Amino acid sequence: HRHLLGIEPLKPHEITAILDLADSYVDLNRRPEKHSDALAGLTQINMFFENSTRTQASFEIAGKRLGADVMNMAMQASSIKKGETLIDTAMTLNAMHPDLLVVRHPHSGAVDLLAQKVNCAVLNAGDGKHEHPTQALLDALTIRRAKGRLHRLNIAICGDVAHSRVARSNLILLGKMENRIRLIGPPTLVPGQFADFGAEIYDDMREGLKDVDVVMMLRLQKERMDGGFIPSEREYFHRYGLDAEKLSHAKPDAIVMHPGPMNRGVEIDGTLADDINRSVIQEQVEMGVAVRMAAMDLLAQNLRQSRNTAAAG
Ligand code: CP
Repeated sequence: HRHLLGIEPLKPHEITAILDLADSYVDLNRRPEKHSDALAGLTQINMFFENSTRTQASFEIAGKRLGADVMNMAMQASSIKKGETLIDTAMTLNAMHPDLLVVRHPHSGAVDLLAQKVNCAVLNAGDGKHEHPTQALLDALTIRRAKGRLHRLNIAICGDVAHSRVARSNLILLGKMENRIRLIGPPTLVPGQFADFGAEIYDDMREGLKDVDVVMMLRLQKERMDGGFIPSEREYFHRYGLDAEKLSHAKPDAIVMHPGPMNRGVEIDGTLADDINRSVIQEQVEMGVAVRMAAMDLLAQNLRQSRNTAAAG
């Protein structure tokens, strides 16, 4: 592949290859000398048109640990504010010969469009409600390391599925790896059409969580709601927020995940989120750096190969 725009085009063996390489980067990241030259000589530009803590920081750290020259565009201070379009901005940066462009954008499909206009590899860091492929890959790596496998698990994805690119990418990835997926939430946030992904839909947390291996909570994405989706945060937490009592319906060794940023006391109880015996939220963040290193390493290998072929031809 030339780009990483979504999980959709990836085959199961390609997902496994990314995770295997990421595992080796977890080892590297735990050493005192956290450095490789896999991206030496390459230029990585991060363009975040939407807020981010985890994804932007981990892409920057990932690039630097692999020896790339990394530049973070301050989009709030860019000429986008003067009316320059996304495509003109991308073309302008493209003329500076970057090798890797990491892009987050509030509109679904914007990153795919941009990828058609530039000569470098593009990585989707989240586009609207569409995909967040590196999040699904880091979630997969976290699950595989915690459970020892990434197939035939019962996995519950809970809460605001409707507005979540994280849920979409996870549904696609976990489905490709032949897991049984349940979606749990109010019908306004888990519309029936999500059954098309092969998932079972539940409105009741205790029923839906019965005997699951993995509980993945989602943030209520109020910035993508027009209002009217939930009665109140207190009522939402009562019915759909994960706490120790609701978790007791899952398997005794079920893990608790959340992509972050989390709303404590809304979709998840803060004490449970911090319980290192159940919650793998910090591991997810650690895996995020390793997965992004692996994704950029593999795309850079493809980029170098295609450039060599073009030079030889
Ligand atoms: N999970 C995630 O994408 O977090 P950020 O929005 O902080 O990058």
